[in-house]
Amino acid sequence: MIKVVRVKNKEEISKKAFEIMHELVTSNPKAVLGLATGSSPVGLYELMIRDHKENGTSYKDVTTFNLDEYVGLPKDHPESYYSFMHRNLFDGLDVKEENIHIPSSEGDLEERCDEYNEALSKQTIDLQILGIGSNGHIGFNEPDTPFDSVTHIVDLKESTIKDNARFFDDDISKVPTQAITMGISNVMAAKKIILIANGENKANAIRATVMGPVDEKVPASVLQNHPDVVIIIDEEAGSSLYKEKR
Ligand code: GLP
Repeated sequence: MIKVVRVKNKEEISKKAFEIMHELVTSNPKAVLGLATGSSPVGLYELMIRDHKENGTSYKDVTTFNLDEYVGLPKDHPESYYSFMHRNLFDGLDVKEENIHIPSSEGDLEERCDEYNEALSKQTIDLQILGIGSNGHIGFNEPDTPFDSVTHIVDLKESTIKDNARFFDDDISKVPTQAITMGISNVMAAKKIILIANGENKANAIRATVMGPVDEKVPASVLQNHPDVVIIIDEEAGSSLYKEKR
């Protein structure tokens, strides 16, 4: 079931998501967190770091699993998701490096996928954080990804490459064309899911996710089948909800 929470702006989205995160990690210090990249969760991560520093909320027994990683960028590239996560979250918390899981895209990719699925199969994610692509992707599960997919290699859609060019000097030729991503069934195995989105360019994807048919053409629509999803959006991302299609 999807619960939609509409708030005024990005800051409020981060606060709402943080409330749920904080409640989980304080009540269950060994929580398993599913984490996302992109600009959407950055405000949440800032609040987690601030709370850790000011109030001492500890993540030392928390385990994390990231959704995805680019193929073709070395780990130490500033736009690799490995670098992103350390810069925006892990460097500011006390998570143990050995408890951090980010898909690796080095070496034999099929082996990396198998290893990640194996690691995921040993744990249950308590709370999965998701952003959403303007085409409805979650993680890097692009439209038409089978709902029963597990960690796999994807060819990124042109729309995703264009969307993500902003992180690569607006130069499409610098954006990787492939990624390794947790599959949709891995995401759906989480006990609770929070999807956060802001801005007008997410409005159609949010509408299709919440109101559209559950269809592999809109990967996030699968969330309608999950028992506990909270979608936290600002006014712009929610601007197409409950209206006639524009
Ligand atoms: C990337 C990530 C997704 C993320 C999406 C949206 O494609 N792989 O996990 O949800 O970007 O990014 P943003 O939050 O910057 O709009």
